[in-house]
Amino acid sequence: MNKPLRDSHSAPVREQELALLEKESRFCSYGDTVHYADRPKIFDRCEGSYLYDLHGHAYLDLQMWYSAVNLGYANRAVTEAMRRQAEKLPQLACQYLHREKIELAEMICESVQRGFGMKGRVQFNVGGSQAIEDALKLVRKTTGRQRMFAFEGGYHGRTLAASAITSSYRYREAFGEFGDRAQFVPFPYAFRSPFRGDEQKTEDHCIAEFERLFEHEYTGAWNPKTGRSEFGAFFVEAVQGTGGYVIPPKNYFKRLAQVCRQHGILLVDDEIQMGIYRTGKMWAMEHFDAQPDIIVFGKALTNGMNPISGIWAREELIHPGVFGPGSTHSTFASNTLGTATGLAVMKILASGDYQSAVPRKGRYFLDKLRQIQSRHAQVGDVAGLGLALRMEMCEGDGFTPSRRLADRMFQIGLEGNLPVGPRNSMGLVLDIGGYYKNVVTLAPSLEISTAEIDLAAVALEHVIERANQSLDM
Ligand SMILES: Cc1ncc(COP(=O)(O)O)c(C=O)c1O
Repeated sequence: MNKPLRDSHSAPVREQELALLEKESRFCSYGDTVHYADRPKIFDRCEGSYLYDLHGHAYLDLQMWYSAVNLGYANRAVTEAMRRQAEKLPQLACQYLHREKIELAEMICESVQRGFGMKGRVQFNVGGSQAIEDALKLVRKTTGRQRMFAFEGGYHGRTLAASAITSSYRYREAFGEFGDRAQFVPFPYAFRSPFRGDEQKTEDHCIAEFERLFEHEYTGAWNPKTGRSEFGAFFVEAVQGTGGYVIPPKNYFKRLAQVCRQHGILLVDDEIQMGIYRTGKMWAMEHFDAQPDIIVFGKALTNGMNPISGIWAREELIHPGVFGPGSTHSTFASNTLGTATGLAVMKILASGDYQSAVPRKGRYFLDKLRQIQSRHAQVGDVAGLGLALRMEMCEGDGFTPSRRLADRMFQIGLEGNLPVGPRNSMGLVLDIGGYYKNVVTLAPSLEISTAEIDLAAVALEHVIERANQSLDM
């Protein structure tokens, strides 16, 4: 932590802050997620694992822009690569080539080949939802089908087509008919399954229910006479992100991929949130011994700098004879600042020991969460894969979801002033996800130190205690 927080809010800064908030209330749409918070926060500076507000107060960030900033804020090597590109080739229409685009595509293809043993190609875009749309186009083009499977609890973005395969009805409700809405299938969420924590039974049950869709034609998914499914692909997150960092049982995806393959359904692996070593492997699906047909990536590829997203697809699906020139396009798709930044990120990842460091730090953090759980009955479940960690907040029975407790924790973290040492205090940046919006989803920087994890654990416990006190009042 760089700065102690004990300084008082200086009057002129407070006045500036109030003036900015007043203008925001008049000039900014409330259509984004800013006003999820009771009192929106203005940040001014960032470094490493910390954000700093206008008063210079530090906030330890445990969600890193929904896992877009895996290598820490203001990462020097990444910023330097971007600065060099800004001086050399800051702009170029995407109809022309540049070195960094080609080398970035090569590094992504090599990482997929290492992880899954498959050859393919990359198509870039800008945001995650746009890359999801490209994946949908590719599935439609190659299978001729436009119905998709996706998971309950799955999140794939908020553009219209991405909303159609995102499970939350709330995100679609106000926006009319979604004719291509996915069929949502239960995810093997052992803690909340009818088998209450039994992973094997949850896995078996979910696989059996999915297989049942192909037993006869009256499930609406399958025509045994033609051997054709109405569904082109299954869009999955190996570990659910917005759905609450839910980790499936070990063999689930291997079995699911087999059922999909038997019925000609492609497996689209959305790695936008869990990819880029969040779980300790480049691609989260590598943990589960299943081969995707298409991989979608975004967020942390550029460490939260100039965005680049994209899809990787098996050669048979994306070779130029299938997905030819003009199949997709966006003005900023392979913007040069983004490709240079993405290439720098890939080189940092290739030269580091993230494959062992992330699981080690994750185990250390998870152990801290288990200790907190042992002292607070409201922490119903804790789990983690690498540095994707979850803490599920419940009522005193340790099971009934407590959205109000999670909400209070989120607000209290942002209020700051959590005592984390004799002379220091800080705030905590948390994110709440989950089917019941009661899960603290933790995605700290992959560069987080042991000392910072210790601080995080102390601060988290204060947040739980303060949230409990304020709810008791
Ligand atoms: C798994 C997943 N897919 C897709 C998206 C959409 O990406 P974007 O917000 O960049 O459009 C997100 C964003 O949170 C995500 O977590």
